[in-house]
Amino acid sequence: MQTTKTALLALLKSGDFVSGEALAEEIGVSRTAIWKNIQKLKDQGYNIVAVHNKGYSLLESSKELNETTLKSLIESSQLFDQVVYKEVVDSTQNYAFNILNQSDDNIVIVSQEQTKGRGRFKREWESPKSTGLYMSLVLRPDIPNHKMIPFNLFISLAISKAIQKVTGLDAGIKWPNDIYINNKKVCGFLTEIVAEENTVSSIICGIGINIKPSNEISKLATATSLLGELKDKDFDLVHFIDVLFQHIEIYYNMFMTKNFKAIKDEWLSHSIIFNRKLKVTQSSGVIYGKVLDITDDGQLLIVDEEANIHKVISADIEI
Ligand code: BTN
Repeated sequence: MQTTKTALLALLKSGDFVSGEALAEEIGVSRTAIWKNIQKLKDQGYNIVAVHNKGYSLLESSKELNETTLKSLIESSQLFDQVVYKEVVDSTQNYAFNILNQSDDNIVIVSQEQTKGRGRFKREWESPKSTGLYMSLVLRPDIPNHKMIPFNLFISLAISKAIQKVTGLDAGIKWPNDIYINNKKVCGFLTEIVAEENTVSSIICGIGINIKPSNEISKLATATSLLGELKDKDFDLVHFIDVLFQHIEIYYNMFMTKNFKAIKDEWLSHSIIFNRKLKVTQSSGVIYGKVLDITDDGQLLIVDEEANIHKVISADIEI
């Protein structure tokens, strides 16, 4: 449900002056409620001016990450019905599973600290306070199981393009679930599903992005962060999340309506796994080799050192 604050932000979005009376009438609350909510928005970092006989005008949106800013970001989203913000949570992924059956909504859960962040292959995902962005998407595709195969390809392209658009950094995709900058991991994501009778009813996709350098990241020679790469350049986290949500919406819609072929060329231009020696670990064993191609449905073709070709659908890759 839309709160008074979110409704106010939507009405003030254009930057034009709107009178307190008009706002009160439009939202259906008293003028005192308008005034109180304007004060709350100011406390949350929104730059709103009040001019006698003209009303209120939003000069600048808030750069603070909180429930109000996130709610206003999804206001124009055709994808997300709900956003949940948690300052700290055990894992946004666990939280998503806990609320999964409360509705059929598409939900995004965002946090700036996790106490039990988890990664692929039961690894821990270090999630120290205010240095990373931790989010889980709850999506309801209702598609046959086999149609899930290219999901990670669409999402990886969405994340890589959003990072590139906002930071200008070259964010490469390391198949299947990682984003790298300058040969170091900046983002990993984890896709889990709920399926019934061969139909995927829910996707729970957890995305972890390193935003600022932290002790935990510095310990790892193979990891980096957006601000670590940007050095002194400006970075607006709320704007980044806005662009990320927009890209997720675009590429999720494409995933639902098209096959991987539609984005294959673009995906290939972002991929960093070609022309390198790889160690590919699958549950069935380890292969050393190079990527020959990716099939139209998103499976990797690896040629090993004995020139055998392997079709790989899920694996951990070391570059
Ligand atoms: C990986 O590279 O292994 C995937 C990491 C996924 C981490 C994210 S952070 C948000 C969500 N909550 C979790 O506990 N994990 C995912």
